[in-house]
Amino acid sequence: MIRSQLAEFMKRMDQRSVAIIPAAREATRSNDTQYRYRQDSDFLYLTGFEEPESIAIIAPGREQKYTLFVRPRDPEREVWDGKRAGVEGAKNEFGAEEAFPIAEFDEKLHEILDGANVLYYRLGVNPDLDGKVIREIARMRALNRKPIHPPRTIIDPATIVHEMRVLKSAEEIELMQRAADIAAEAHVEAMKAVRPGMNEFEVEAMIEHYFRRQGASGPSYTSIVGAGANATVLHYISNNGELRDGELLLIDAGAEYKGYASDITRTFPINGRYTKAQREIYDLVLETQMACVEMVRPGTTHDELKTHSIEMLTEGMVSLGLLKGDPKELIKDKKHEQFYMHGLGHMLGIDVHDVGLYYFDKESRALEPGVVMTVEPGLYISPATKDIPEQYLGIGVRIEDDVLCTTNGPRVLTSKVPKNADEIEALMVK
Ligand code: GLY
Ligand code: MN
Ligand code: MN
Repeated sequence: MIRSQLAEFMKRMDQRSVAIIPAAREATRSNDTQYRYRQDSDFLYLTGFEEPESIAIIAPGREQKYTLFVRPRDPEREVWDGKRAGVEGAKNEFGAEEAFPIAEFDEKLHEILDGANVLYYRLGVNPDLDGKVIREIARMRALNRKPIHPPRTIIDPATIVHEMRVLKSAEEIELMQRAADIAAEAHVEAMKAVRPGMNEFEVEAMIEHYFRRQGASGPSYTSIVGAGANATVLHYISNNGELRDGELLLIDAGAEYKGYASDITRTFPINGRYTKAQREIYDLVLETQMACVEMVRPGTTHDELKTHSIEMLTEGMVSLGLLKGDPKELIKDKKHEQFYMHGLGHMLGIDVHDVGLYYFDKESRALEPGVVMTVEPGLYISPATKDIPEQYLGIGVRIEDDVLCTTNGPRVLTSKVPKNADEIEALMVK
């Protein structure tokens, strides 16, 4: 059985073509040890096959439309690395019409390329394979007095696959909802458990423990757990600072479930009560976040979302005395970027920063039903900032939800974790 994603990809391909889609390569961590393997997102989307050293060949106009090259069964290697599907499993469990050991790929490459007008292949990701493909095409070109037909055109398959991935199917949304639920529950657990005197790494471990216990493969990106001024560092991942009474804790952590990511940020008081200054910043970010979530509707562009968040935050920052002047002028001069320096959000799916174009030429992409977006405004006030009210120094706040665009408006996948300050405080009462 060919997966629906693969069938759709075949439909959108040139009919006299072949696609070569490789699995991700294993990555060395140190010396001869590897990072835990994670499949290439496009390969996973099309094939569902999670093993390394695999290549999918897709040729909609041929008798054998779907071939997998895989690691063969090997009892000796399997003692070390675990069970492999092998050639038979590739056919019986993963729907390949033909399958071969990966070692046979090189000798079959000529046959794979021959007769296709178009080759779908993503150059620039796997230099070894790039070299093989380019050399074989060059060799075939040189044989032009024989009945040999190398591809004339090379197209990046991402031009099809990434656009398919932008719009999530009902099955994908179900998986994303599960990824979101697991992460939301983990954030709730953290809110209930946090106390002054703990360390950021304890919170990180607690959250990731929850992810794994609920069937997630782990975090979908390196978790950010930043207490106090660490929350003002956007990509803070040291996660080894003390949780101090009176400070905020920012947690940006999402789970990966069956290949799909969630991505949640919450910022809450370590002792369970926001100070007045923390609450002022928090409520400004929250109000902005909720207004932007409401805008996640068909037709809204990415740029409109970002612009709205900048306007709301800048007006609020002027009211609080963080910025001085006319909000419109301040925005024109990019003064808001001192405290709000990142985008409002990104598409979400198999990749946490998911694929798909954000601009068509110069035009910002509009949202459509089936798109999942994060909405994550924040304000980051470095302790070293000059000439601002002192009570705001060292405060970092971000609030991030995952939102599905539907014809009926926004559906917040991550609504299981509270974001209203009163609700958070009520949850944290010991
Ligand atoms: N945690 C990555 C992001 O929020 O984009
Ligand atoms: Mn995030
Ligand atoms: Mn995000």
